[in-house]
Amino acid sequence: MEVIEGIEPLRAAIKQLAQPVGLVPTMGFLHAGHLAIVEGARKETRGLVVSIFVNPEQFGPGEDIKIYPRDMDSDLAQLKEVGVDLVFAPSVSEVYPSGFDSYVQVGQIGERLEGKYRPGHFRGVATIVCKLISLVRPARVYFGEKDFQQTRVVNQINTDLNLGSEIVVIPTVREPDGLALSTRNGYMDSRERDAANILYRSLNLARKMVREGVRDAAKIQCGMRAAIQTEPLATVDYIDIVDEATLEESASINNSTRVLVAVRIGKVRLIDNMRLFAKS
Ligand code: PAJ
Repeated sequence: MEVIEGIEPLRAAIKQLAQPVGLVPTMGFLHAGHLAIVEGARKETRGLVVSIFVNPEQFGPGEDIKIYPRDMDSDLAQLKEVGVDLVFAPSVSEVYPSGFDSYVQVGQIGERLEGKYRPGHFRGVATIVCKLISLVRPARVYFGEKDFQQTRVVNQINTDLNLGSEIVVIPTVREPDGLALSTRNGYMDSRERDAANILYRSLNLARKMVREGVRDAAKIQCGMRAAIQTEPLATVDYIDIVDEATLEESASINNSTRVLVAVRIGKVRLIDNMRLFAKS
């Protein structure tokens, strides 16, 4: 496994990789959710590149990039174990040298949901993902379903800008109680951690209502809100029931309807999502 910090050495190393090449973009501090993606990618590709880069452009003014956790030694040990070929771990100045002045501006798909609460976030994500795809030219790029809107944004830029990679989405990895693994889980104390379970419980409640025949999105949102409000540490940012392809709000439920939630537990903001009809 080769660890590369510079863009020119990366270009040279990419040329030596066996095809098809897979790319897994990450911000490091890897957990089992990231590793499930890397393992999924390993099975489907012959050359595998993982990027580790805490991207300043996707952090808003109130979001402190300085406290974002990092542990390069542990990340590299875990990636070595899976059998990654190249790790691209550039510095901020390598990615955004002085004079950098071009950004990928996503349209409506990036303005809804997270886009409303984190203005500029998806512009930052789209810009870094576009740069990584341009550099690595992978056949496939892998993302987690946990950040569902991110997968839609990436799909949109891949299509609109003819980036030419296949976007692959890997299912969310959860703790035994259902909480989706996330770097931010580590910011919670044990009381908050227990309270955070309300996200998964509310998603399951929505699914149960659909199983029992409810098709009115407003009714499901209402039930979820009431469930989340039973948890005193939780504050809802949004509970949106949307069409998976467009992320436009749906009034009724069909096979491609998904519920996306953002809830603050104390100061920690968590997101999760689930398709409402179970695939079976
Ligand atoms: P990061 O938060 O490090 O996540 C890297 C990838 O891991 C993303 O595709 C994310 O959806 C996925 N992931 C996170 N938690 C997961 C879980 N519990 N189960 C499955 N997959 C999970 O997302 C980013 O970085 C950045 O925005 C990035 C795409 C790297 C651009 O900077």
